[in-house]
Amino acid sequence: MEFYNTSVIQSWERFYRANFINSLTGFKSVSLVGTADESGNENLGIFSSIVHIGSDPALVGYINRPRMAAPHTLANIESNGIYTINHIQPSFLEQAHQTSAKYPPEISEFESVGLTPEYHENIKAPFVKESNVKYALSLKEIIPISHNDTFLVIGKIEVVQLGGNFVSPDGFIDLNKAGSICSNGIDSYYATSSIGRYEYAKPGKKPQKIN
Ligand SMILES: Cc1cc2nc3c(=O)[nH]c(=O)nc-3n(C[C@H](O)[C@H](O)[C@H](O)COP(=O)(O)O)c2cc1C
Repeated sequence: MEFYNTSVIQSWERFYRANFINSLTGFKSVSLVGTADESGNENLGIFSSIVHIGSDPALVGYINRPRMAAPHTLANIESNGIYTINHIQPSFLEQAHQTSAKYPPEISEFESVGLTPEYHENIKAPFVKESNVKYALSLKEIIPISHNDTFLVIGKIEVVQLGGNFVSPDGFIDLNKAGSICSNGIDSYYATSSIGRYEYAKPGKKPQKIN
């Protein structure tokens, strides 16, 4: 076993340290966040800090970097109050990764990377047409994290759109079947492979597999 304490980690070159820390927390969901400003200029960015906050009300959060580093998605969500989250499938991974480049605000990442914006009634934010699993959220809360100037952005799920029959009889969405990918760090992507679903655990009872 190797052991790394804070002073060792702090002594590393900054990109080495960032890669190490960014990958430590594990495999993550990775999606494209679609937004538009008040004039309808579209923005699309890749985000991997997306986290389930609660199921009733259905809340989802993500961490936005400091404003200077990643200004557009956050500003659009603040002014428009609505945004979409679109899962990524391998067929458009390169385009999805490219959305992390720093494009000027008037340039649409949809157009630059070659993905297709898609709109639904009453949702003033673009979905990604190519995505198989997507949902729209209304902004509920932005919590500034003073320790590193990031923001926890929390939204309520308003609409969900699935491009196939991925829902099990008990409501579970089989993302493996949908082909959604996951990520580690900020440059590494993975396809998934299921190794089991288990029933609700009870003390003293052997975990039961769900088929
Ligand atoms: C795999 C990957 C994951 C990322 N995850 C996040 C994230 O969770 N939060 C964030 O603020 N930026 C993240 N980024 C960086 C944004 O994609 C990048 O800043 C993007 O241009 C969004 O900026 P904008 O909102 O100004 O358009 C990630 C980049 C990559 C490649």
